[in-house]
Amino acid sequence: MATGGNPLQHRDAGHGVDPLFPRRWSSRAMSGAPLPEGALMTLLEAARWAPSSYNGQPWRFRYALRDDLHWASFLGFLKENNRLWCVRAGALVALVSRTVDDDGDFARTHALDAGAALENIQLQGSLLGLVTHAMAGIDREAARVGLAVPAEHEVQCMIAVGVPGPADLLPEHLQAREVPSGRRSLADLIGAGPFPA
Ligand SMILES: Cc1cc2nc3c(=O)[nH]c(=O)nc-3n(C[C@H](O)[C@H](O)[C@H](O)COP(=O)(O)O)c2cc1C
Repeated sequence: MATGGNPLQHRDAGHGVDPLFPRRWSSRAMSGAPLPEGALMTLLEAARWAPSSYNGQPWRFRYALRDDLHWASFLGFLKENNRLWCVRAGALVALVSRTVDDDGDFARTHALDAGAALENIQLQGSLLGLVTHAMAGIDREAARVGLAVPAEHEVQCMIAVGVPGPADLLPEHLQAREVPSGRRSLADLIGAGPFPA
């Protein structure tokens, strides 16, 4: 199933949650079409409006558009299992977080804040009908060196962004995974007050 299908058929979101949330999912099926730079800017602008501790905004983004000067090196930062479907992405984004605040003190929530920015990108991408897919499966050291990541910054993940495409362009084992995943039940995750003894 490509992103053009209806993910809600596979997901039982309850409690009146807006369909925006279960509709977003991490497809890998992309067409290989170029992504207009303006669409990428819309996603990154969404990220800019994420909440962060003390409004520290520790997220930083470096990107490559398909077939531009940096495309091959960005593809090279990915582990092989990710590269094999990212070859049809329209853009690759590296999400980097600054690990210190403006006073030079450790920013304890830098990764958490970067995660909020990631979610904004993915929700905005879903609203635009684009594939967005986060990847921790990267060669962090290669990315750190290749992106000239400054001191006191950490590479968190890379994000594939693309125009949806037919799933049958994917290797067979990934075609089988082109189905939106489920979730643990809310009851498994929550409780009033402290954890039980
Ligand atoms: C930080 C992060 C790292 C991830 N790394 C990978 C990855 O390396 N390769 C991959 O195929 N998917 C990766 N994913 C996608 C997750 O597998 C996916 O979000 C999860 O299974 C939930 O599915 P959904 O996004 O479709 O709701 C990653 C997601 C996140 C948030």
